[in-house]
Amino acid sequence: MISFCGLELRSPFLLAPMAGITDPAFRSICADYGAALTYTEMVSAKGLIYQDKKSAELLRLGGSAPCFAQLFGSEPEIMAAAAEKALAISPFDGIDINMGCPVPKIVGNGEGSALMKDLRLASQIIAAVKSAVRVPVTVKFRSGFDAEHINAPEFARMAEASGADAVCVHGRTRTQMYSGTSDRAVVASVRQAVKIPVLASGDALSPQACMEILRDTGADAVMLARGALGRPWIFEDCEAALRGEETRLHTEDELTETLLRHAELICRQKGEGRAIREMRKHGMWYLAGLRGAKPLKLRMAQAETLADIADICDEVKRSRLRMKR
Ligand SMILES: Cc1cc2nc3c(=O)[nH]c(=O)nc-3n(C[C@H](O)[C@H](O)[C@H](O)COP(=O)(O)O)c2cc1C
Repeated sequence: MISFCGLELRSPFLLAPMAGITDPAFRSICADYGAALTYTEMVSAKGLIYQDKKSAELLRLGGSAPCFAQLFGSEPEIMAAAAEKALAISPFDGIDINMGCPVPKIVGNGEGSALMKDLRLASQIIAAVKSAVRVPVTVKFRSGFDAEHINAPEFARMAEASGADAVCVHGRTRTQMYSGTSDRAVVASVRQAVKIPVLASGDALSPQACMEILRDTGADAVMLARGALGRPWIFEDCEAALRGEETRLHTEDELTETLLRHAELICRQKGEGRAIREMRKHGMWYLAGLRGAKPLKLRMAQAETLADIADICDEVKRSRLRMKR
């Protein structure tokens, strides 16, 4: 158990926010495998305030783990109102503010990682959200905007002074996007810079990597993003690694059962047509864990119904595809 923002978390392994991925179905699957805390996809504060149905839909709860809603925006009053509205839609355990998104459209609007260049505005946003809600408020950002402006420690101090209850740092700059490697030394320097909890993000791709990140950064917990795609059991494996135990071997049957359960959950939440279109990418990630699955990946890319997904799972069994180990 670790204490984080007034919550008792079962482990230091959290599911990172991922747009287009961490919907209630995926959060639920990861929580069942032990994700100690989950985040919604990032939600536009403006979208939420101006009654965009899609934004509100992203704020449904799902899964047994505690969950923070992640908001992005650049206007303090709108962010504060959006945080209140998010909590009125669902009783989230906290609000996370996205100040790390590198996508050009978001940065061009002065949102996401653009705020790493404007500490005054970032501070006003954090303070406004903090005073609007009673739940913990956290901030997720990057090592800096670019290699010439690595300011994560200064940014973390600003966040702490503005009322943030914890911070999360992805050790890449905005200009790196997802290239290169995440800089653990920057995360370690953030850990040194503030008293509030620090979460590490970046390259948490295996249980071993997660253990090394915790050791090298001194972070209180680590967020898993790409490492959980198509293999949500990584949270269970991380817990085993923390206990110093061997990880359990995951079988082909477990893979197909999880894939199918994931598809059923999305269908329940979003209706079959849309759900299966969204499920295709998850299906490809699950199948990437099997040897010789190329022909099935082609079928997955064209799946239309839950029955198509079930057929693909049956075919995995019939053709005796084996897990990559
Ligand atoms: C498809 C995708 C979507 C993401 N969406 C978000 C998001 O909505 N909010 C956010 O703060 N970070 C987002 N991220 C960043 C991740 O939370 C994480 O910080 C990053 O992927 C580094 O971790 P990893 O190397 O373990 O994948 C996203 C990453 C990916 C791959």
